[in-house]
Amino acid sequence: MKKDILTILDLTKTDIDYLLKRAVELKYMQKQGILYRPFTGKTLGLIFDKPSTRTRVSFETAMIQLGGTPLFISTKDTQIARDEPVRDTARVLSRYIDCLAIRTFSQSLIEEFAQFSSIPIINALTDLYHPCQVLSDIMTVLEKKGGYNNIKIAWIGDGNNVAHSWINASAILGLNLVLACPKGYCPDEMILKRALERGVGNIHLTSDPVEAARGADVLYTDVWASMGQEKEHEERKLVFASYKLSSKLVQYASENVIVMHCLPAHREEEISEGVLEGPNSVVWDQSENKLHMTKAILEALIGRKPDS
Ligand code: CP
Ligand code: NVA
Repeated sequence: MKKDILTILDLTKTDIDYLLKRAVELKYMQKQGILYRPFTGKTLGLIFDKPSTRTRVSFETAMIQLGGTPLFISTKDTQIARDEPVRDTARVLSRYIDCLAIRTFSQSLIEEFAQFSSIPIINALTDLYHPCQVLSDIMTVLEKKGGYNNIKIAWIGDGNNVAHSWINASAILGLNLVLACPKGYCPDEMILKRALERGVGNIHLTSDPVEAARGADVLYTDVWASMGQEKEHEERKLVFASYKLSSKLVQYASENVIVMHCLPAHREEEISEGVLEGPNSVVWDQSENKLHMTKAILEALIGRKPDS
């Protein structure tokens, strides 16, 4: 496995299949009450420039359960806030801690961290990608559907960071992915083009949510205005009105469709209360799996031998 996970494209199919298998094992071990503490004396740093409930708490808890120590590094209380260059911060932190998870705006910032760090850097969400989210989501799909092949996954809504990571996952695992996004809010063209050029996944883009939902085994949505887009929220509510994941849309999907949302959810915006709380929704299991997948990721990266 590579040193860093900045995007799902840093992983091979073998890497992802390994992480999925390992996350399921680690989940089983936790449910059995088996203590597993390989990281005594190891430290995970967390730099979060955007809010987080699930990702931050699951990373911190994962590190504690693995016997290590999470260290939340508040940007505003460090010299980062006084413009110490990333390349200096990265080299200094590499001398103290064993891994660094970063949630921030620009993808290029975490790329710079990765370039100048000798420790693994994990993308905990940027404007462009949310790789760990989608890895844990695929674990949920695996648990609920028995596999990720030969199923239709429908993304309904904004062509955002989570959608981009689904596109990348599709390009590596060969997923059947249909994205329904309004004109002007489609996924990044370059990300889509690069994924299509790999010729592995079956990725299709439409502006019609019904076309995407028809026969889908997985219906997935996310907020209409991501972090950093708060000013566009009102305008986006108008543009996305017909993309709400409602019980009517669920009726077009396969009978046993699972409904997914990375959360936080805005009820009666991108998803109705009835669908979020309804029998097809798997969002709480989906949230839980972030913990187990994070453990698998930390184990693989911190435990990795140099140059392996
Ligand atoms: N899904 C997710 O990343 O949630 P948080 O923003 O709470 O971390
Ligand atoms: N697309 C959302 C995901 C939140 C977990 C955002 O970036 O705000």
